Amino acid sequence: MTHPILFVCLGNICRSPAAEGVLRALRPDWRIDSAGTSDWHVGEPPYGPMQAAAKARGYDLSRLRARQFTAVDFTKFSLILCMDAENLANVERLRPKGNVTPARLFTDYAAEAGVNHVPDPYYTRDFDGCLDLIEACAKGLIAGA
Ligand code: 4NP
Repeated sequence: MTHPILFVCLGNICRSPAAEGVLRALRPDWRIDSAGTSDWHVGEPPYGPMQAAAKARGYDLSRLRARQFTAVDFTKFSLILCMDAENLANVERLRPKGNVTPARLFTDYAAEAGVNHVPDPYYTRDFDGCLDLIEACAKGLIAGA
């Protein structure tokens, strides 16, 4: 059982909602959610340019709303996938004593991409490149499930 899966980034308005939308589209039978390590955008929909790039590929992110990752998420999900090492470190800091839920980097599932994080398009402005990488990681995740 590889789900429920929680995707985590910093703001929960670009990378992790995009990953949530891609996985929901590819595996509608899986339970998928996303969260941010920060509280900066709580309650907001995904960032406009991210939504537009996703919509162009058929992924509707419009109903998603940002929320902050909490320690309780360790008990609600069977796999936590983070977009970069800083997100993973911030997630690990909240791990309850004795909890063994795996928390990993999403890019672990696309070794062929040769990267160790999903670059943040909020800063790079490369929303299509972000989706390319997320789709590659998603396919690897599904293939290994
Ligand atoms: P995300 O991108 O972590 O992929 O959602 C970000 C969005 C907003 C900010 C940082 C990262 N921000 O600084 O507001």
